[in-house]
Amino acid sequence: MQQAKAKPTRVIALMNQKGGVGKTTTTVNLGAALARAGRRTLIVDLDPQAHASLSLGIDPAELEHSVYDVLLDPTADAQSCITRRSDNLDVLPSQTDLAAAELELGNASDRQKRLEAALARLGGAYEFVLIDCPPSLGLLTLNGLAAAREVIVPMQAHYLALQGVGKLLETVGLVSKAVNPRLRVTGVVLCMHDTSSTHTREVVADLEGFFEQARAGDAPWKYSRVLRPAIRRNIKLAECPSFGQTIFEYAPGAPGAEDYAALATGLLRDWDALLARRESPIVEVPASIVTGMGEVAP
Ligand SMILES: Nc1ncnc2c1ncn2[C@@H]1O[C@H](COP(=O)(O)OP(=O)(O)OP(=O)(O)O)[C@@H](O)[C@H]1O
Ligand SMILES: [Mg+2]
Repeated sequence: MQQAKAKPTRVIALMNQKGGVGKTTTTVNLGAALARAGRRTLIVDLDPQAHASLSLGIDPAELEHSVYDVLLDPTADAQSCITRRSDNLDVLPSQTDLAAAELELGNASDRQKRLEAALARLGGAYEFVLIDCPPSLGLLTLNGLAAAREVIVPMQAHYLALQGVGKLLETVGLVSKAVNPRLRVTGVVLCMHDTSSTHTREVVADLEGFFEQARAGDAPWKYSRVLRPAIRRNIKLAECPSFGQTIFEYAPGAPGAEDYAALATGLLRDWDALLARRESPIVEVPASIVTGMGEVAP
């Protein structure tokens, strides 16, 4: 009889060097949606602003341990730095000390790989790990990209943001070559989206055209797509962090809850289909496809 294989972990970095585009809102509420769907989920707050931690009601000033400890001490017990938030949802929180980590890590030869090593020490405890990156391309973001298999880029559908995404993808390409050849861009999540604007629709069409063209090449965004649904602009999403609540706790009937739940459902549909193929004794699925959701089964 075939032995059931352990479920692999999807490690996804939410990354965009542009500030205020919806990285934290997406990490927190997509993570909450996955947890509500019964998937063990860890949110890693890699931003010294600690917005993801605060949004989940965790006060960084009261923490004994945080992601800072696992970055600075390669032998730190990662599990003891994690805070249980709610059913299926844990957080590796941030503190403002984290801003010093880039300097303190100095020239340590493994300085880009500390988070990856810490997540490896957790074993297969989580099905999803979502990493909220800061709005910069420093050592913290590099740790996020080195630890992840996938990148999801939250952005707004504006012309200038589109230009920025080209540069960002090039950066992911460089990081992929230098520190993490398995890194793939799963796609873009459109945040604060306004479907009624013609400009928005044009930008989305441009983005889809760009991804279509990339299918012929071998870039890490070869299989990227514009993930659906777009997240509509919804004031409830802006309000809930001040209550330390996810959108599902604060306003479960709001469009923001509907959109993030549907985004999670879409990701899970593809993921579960891949896992089912992996379990099947008659379908051989290459390892790269099983763990890199950016890659579509041929
Ligand atoms: N769909 C939305 N509708 C309305 N407001 C939103 C939406 N998504 C995010 N916001 C608000 O926009 C602001 C920026 O969002 P967020 O903090 O998620 O961006 P970020 O990319 O993480 O920012 P930073 O680069 O500073 O980390 C926040 O005040 C957030 O509450
Ligand atoms: Mg943020």
